[in-house]
Amino acid sequence: MVNLGIVRLGILLLVTLVCGCGYVMFSALLGSSHFDSYLHCRDRRCFPLYYKSALRLPFHSSSSFSSSHSSLSSLVFTPLQRPLEDDAGSPASTSLANIVFGIAASARLWDKRKEYVSLWWRADAMRGFVWLDQPVGNWSDSFPAFKISANTSHFRYTNRRGRRSALRISRVVSETFRMGLSNVHWFVMGDDDTFFATENLIKVLSKYDHRQFYYIGANSESHFQNLNFSYNMAYGGGGFALSYPLAEALEKMQDDCLHRNPSLYGSDDRMHACMAELGVPLTKEPGFHQFDICGDASGLLAAHPVTPLISLHHLDAIYPVFPNMSRVQALEHLNKAIQVDHGGIFQQSICYDKLKKLSFSVSWGYVVQVARGIVLPQEFEVPTRTFTSWHRKNDEVSYAFNTRSAAKDSCKQPVLFYMQDVFSGADGLSTSNYTKEVRKRANCQWTMPSPDALHWIHVVKAKARNTWYKAPRRQCCNIVDSEHHYAHIEIGSCREGEIIA
Ligand SMILES: *[C@@H]1O[C@H](CO)[C@@H](O)[C@H](O)[C@H]1NC(C)=O
Ligand SMILES: *[C@@H]1O[C@H](CO)[C@@H](O)[C@H](O)[C@H]1NC(C)=O
Ligand SMILES: *[C@@H]1O[C@H](CO)[C@@H](O)[C@H](O)[C@H]1NC(C)=O
Ligand SMILES: *[C@@H]1O[C@H](CO)[C@@H](O)[C@H](O)[C@H]1NC(C)=O
Ligand SMILES: *[C@@H]1O[C@H](CO)[C@@H](O)[C@H](O)[C@H]1NC(C)=O
Repeated sequence: MVNLGIVRLGILLLVTLVCGCGYVMFSALLGSSHFDSYLHCRDRRCFPLYYKSALRLPFHSSSSFSSSHSSLSSLVFTPLQRPLEDDAGSPASTSLANIVFGIAASARLWDKRKEYVSLWWRADAMRGFVWLDQPVGNWSDSFPAFKISANTSHFRYTNRRGRRSALRISRVVSETFRMGLSNVHWFVMGDDDTFFATENLIKVLSKYDHRQFYYIGANSESHFQNLNFSYNMAYGGGGFALSYPLAEALEKMQDDCLHRNPSLYGSDDRMHACMAELGVPLTKEPGFHQFDICGDASGLLAAHPVTPLISLHHLDAIYPVFPNMSRVQALEHLNKAIQVDHGGIFQQSICYDKLKKLSFSVSWGYVVQVARGIVLPQEFEVPTRTFTSWHRKNDEVSYAFNTRSAAKDSCKQPVLFYMQDVFSGADGLSTSNYTKEVRKRANCQWTMPSPDALHWIHVVKAKARNTWYKAPRRQCCNIVDSEHHYAHIEIGSCREGEIIA
């Protein structure tokens, strides 16, 4: 430790000299666990740089450090904002062809669940398998090929609450790996009731180097689920991805790992236990949605985090995503918007009609909320508890994120406009229109203009820049016309200096 400290101190002083900067961030010195931190010069100032895939300084050897002095200066003068793909030795980019899906299913439910799989599965472009407990007749080529999971009766299962099928489902990754497919970057697992937005899945996975160990997914919405299981676990139904080498390492040890952990509940906590044995933490991507919630998910989907939608799960536990449609119809409707602008789906833009004092929040491709008065962005971005928790509660401590209660006063309730139609236009523009929900509400006595006067809303939106996938920012919106019974909104990248106010 002492040697390392001296070496690091030496590096700091040397880099300070090379940069000619008088200003050093001491956090790089004090934060002793940041082996990834270097100093970095730009505009005659020094920045500490915490950059995952940047070249590593040879901390271990001070002699090689001084001998590589000339390469150091080329290192320190690379621009800070360098995109990840430009890194030396960057991986070939990932496409749909480099992903293999493993879908955990059962013969008993397949007939119903296959409708969800057919919403996103494209037999001509995707590779994957549906893993079943026993064969079902009449298999269609429009689905992934089915496989029967190997017999797991020789594994012990001692959890009193769960089911043995957890063993079978946990082994889906290893069994999929053993199919020996070529050119695989990622193994993506999901349930038969998981809906994937695959273009966004690819964009997000492309941020990571598939040649390293990665376990990527998301937590439950439920704080108590995360307490009972783990905040370091990817919830299986929301889907998760393992990089190829990690799946390879898992395949070698998973059966022993399962033997060591007979008392666990499900398949995903078994996976988590094996990841812990391998020492690989969860890389969280909040676009995966386990959806451990019940009922009306609109409050959550109207305030999606600023990250691409990757998956939706527990489709039978929530109401259809659009009112007055079946669950499958509603997802088909949503798919129209995903096909027009996959990155834009559920992305929230907030703007104001200052004359009428109305606040607009667009969750693109889904719903526009219009509220009386000024609802601040830091309020709009908090999901409203239209849903109940997995344990059927409706309090704010049930969730792993901030929520707000639905307004009781009808004057304060936003009026919702659900997407009716969506079209692709020229130059990356899309057009979508939104019509007012059919709902009886108590009269509001406030004298200010009412959002109820609006009948429909027209939205023209530009696709977000590709950089958005790495550096999240909301798009800005403007009300360009709200004269009669409709409002016309434009959404695009924020202009220089533009803010949401
Ligand atoms: C097989 O599938 C077809 C088309 O989906 C359906 O019409 C038919 O009833 C199915 N037959 C059986 C035996 O399940
Ligand atoms: C699994 O193996 C056990 C014991 O080896 C056997 O009794 C059982 O029938 C097998 N199950 C299936 C579905 O093959
Ligand atoms: C999880 O936590 C909740 C709330 O504390 C509790 O009621 C429930 O029994 C727990 N479930 C499990 C599987 O431990
Ligand atoms: C629900 O949908 C049906 C058929 O699509 C339509 O005829 C009906 O008007 C709709 N009802 C409401 C309340 O929107
Ligand atoms: C939505 O837009 C389409 C095409 O512009 C149009 O045909 C349709 O009438 C619009 N719907 C509403 C409610 O304005």
